[in-house]
Amino acid sequence: MAVLLWLLILSAFHAVTLAQQRQFNITHGSSLTPITNSSWFSSSRHFAFGFYEQTNGYAVGISIVGMPKKTAVWTANRNSPVVPSNAVLLLTSDGRLIVHVGSQEISVINPSRAIASASMLDTGNFVLYDSDRNVIWQSFDNPTNTLLPGQHISAGQELFSSASEADDSFGIFRLKMQHDGNLVQYPVNTADSASYAYYASYTGGLGNNVSLNLDDDGLLYLFNSTNSLKNLTKGGYRRERTIIYMMKIDADGIFRVYSHSLNQQNSSMIWSSTNDGCDPKGLCGLNGFCTTIDAQAKCFCLPGFNFVMPGNWSAGCERNFTTETCQLKENTSKYYDMRTVENTGWEDSTYVVLAVTTKEDCEQACLQDCNCEAASFKDKVCRKQRLPLRYGRRDQRNSNLALVKVGINVLPNKELPDQKIEETKGKKLRIDILIASITLTVFALLVDVILVLMI
Ligand SMILES: *[C@@H]1O[C@H](CO)[C@@H](O)[C@H](O)[C@H]1NC(C)=O
Ligand SMILES: *[C@@H]1O[C@H](CO)[C@@H](O)[C@H](O)[C@H]1NC(C)=O
Ligand SMILES: *[C@@H]1O[C@H](CO)[C@@H](O)[C@H](O)[C@H]1NC(C)=O
Ligand SMILES: *[C@@H]1O[C@H](CO)[C@@H](O)[C@H](O)[C@H]1NC(C)=O
Ligand SMILES: *[C@@H]1O[C@H](CO)[C@@H](O)[C@H](O)[C@H]1NC(C)=O
Ligand SMILES: *[C@@H]1O[C@H](CO)[C@@H](O)[C@H](O)[C@H]1NC(C)=O
Ligand SMILES: *[C@@H]1O[C@H](CO)[C@@H](O)[C@H](O)[C@H]1NC(C)=O
Ligand SMILES: *[C@@H]1O[C@H](CO)[C@@H](O)[C@H](O)[C@H]1NC(C)=O
Ligand SMILES: *[C@@H]1O[C@H](CO)[C@@H](O)[C@H](O)[C@H]1NC(C)=O
Repeated sequence: MAVLLWLLILSAFHAVTLAQQRQFNITHGSSLTPITNSSWFSSSRHFAFGFYEQTNGYAVGISIVGMPKKTAVWTANRNSPVVPSNAVLLLTSDGRLIVHVGSQEISVINPSRAIASASMLDTGNFVLYDSDRNVIWQSFDNPTNTLLPGQHISAGQELFSSASEADDSFGIFRLKMQHDGNLVQYPVNTADSASYAYYASYTGGLGNNVSLNLDDDGLLYLFNSTNSLKNLTKGGYRRERTIIYMMKIDADGIFRVYSHSLNQQNSSMIWSSTNDGCDPKGLCGLNGFCTTIDAQAKCFCLPGFNFVMPGNWSAGCERNFTTETCQLKENTSKYYDMRTVENTGWEDSTYVVLAVTTKEDCEQACLQDCNCEAASFKDKVCRKQRLPLRYGRRDQRNSNLALVKVGINVLPNKELPDQKIEETKGKKLRIDILIASITLTVFALLVDVILVLMI
């Protein structure tokens, strides 16, 4: 009896091993679904290709197995919406890798030739082969936001951050290995120009074939096919089969090197491109500004502005009033006032530079110019600015004063959400409230008197 049971267990074990082995060579007709059979594993089972969970559905990608938080290192179709739990991923008999959602068919990876087989390798590289076993596509050549040991970002390639920690669709930051040898970070949708850069390795001029590389001891470095050019991390971290290092450009725009311990099932950050969360340009959208509070980056709106989408910093801020009184050609100080934000600057949008002696002179100059929306005052120079103000940032080292025109006594924009920012309220506002309450009190008294008289 015991022998029979033992045999049964052995054969079950054998079957499991076989099933797993078969997956190393993924062939036509293989399929996955998000819930029951979600992944094709590498032989060590450290990496998995398949469905992984996102906020409102599933994405297809490669993740490190066994971490408490699904750690994706590559993601397919970052432009497309996530798929529901009834999706089916299939390597079709004619060699295409697709996802079926009902009758809809979504291409996952689209190499130039028909796929004969696929493999999830132990390095974390997912590889597609043709019938002659030539590599026709590999995830290591098509990075999304992560670099693994053995993989490199070659000249001209870039990584894009994710939209958020729980959503691996395209975010708003990029890291580019430039053809000039410089490794640079920019916000998305900007030119590769120094004025938009917020991180650089300062290795420009080192040749047109510089690549960014990560070694299995956590060494992150620039290399030009013969020489190591610059080390970003020290490297020399523990080299073990169960420790996986990776470099990732995070949703906050900072790129970091992480160490994942598969045994302890934990991760830690071992290096970061900056310690200042406000460095990434565009973290706060237009007319907002970034400030660090307890080492955490936080966005605020300039005085007189509210968030366009509360909770979505990058959507920026808009005026809480409509600028229409400018055409009235009246004395504008009835409608506008200036508010000050200290130690704050933004991308230059100056259209007039004035030499003035005091902050008040600068404020007056802006108030009396209906084209002036804000001004910056520093070292007796007043710079009038037009909206929108971009890449705003508060920094104690910057003595610049941001002077912002705010609307008073004008109609509000529309139904506005509560403004969460605390700002120094001007005297004018308090006087306005005082006058309003006096008016109310007088009115109430009058009504009382009339009521008393009527009785
Ligand atoms: C993978 O499977 C395909 C189809 O069955 C076969 O032609 C190929 O030789 C296999 N490759 C390996 C490395 O086993
Ligand atoms: C899961 O998928 C693998 C590979 O496609 C297949 O061999 C296996 O039978 C599937 N298991 C189940 C429970 O569907
Ligand atoms: C790589 O860099 C080294 C040192 O800067 C330089 O001597 C060498 O010519 C470069 N090689 C290539 C292929 O650019
Ligand atoms: C560029 O560098 C890569 C990897 O470092 C190397 O494989 C390739 O041959 C180099 N290309 C040229 C044109 O030097
Ligand atoms: C980077 O570190 C490695 C390993 O410590 C070393 O061999 C290499 O020379 C270093 N490169 C530079 C440019 O310092
Ligand atoms: C995981 O946790 C252990 C124990 O707390 C710690 O010693 C180890 O350094 C951690 N490893 C990583 C990669 O964070
Ligand atoms: C707009 O904001 C300014 C400055 O915070 C404030 O004084 C003004 O009352 C606000 N206007 C409206 C219509 O909310
Ligand atoms: C946040 O705002 C940006 C810019 O308007 C937009 O592209 C993005 O989709 C928004 N994100 C969310 C989660 O609404
Ligand atoms: C506008 O009115 C204020 C106060 O009523 C006054 O101090 C200021 O000189 C006036 N400005 C202009 C340009 O008339």
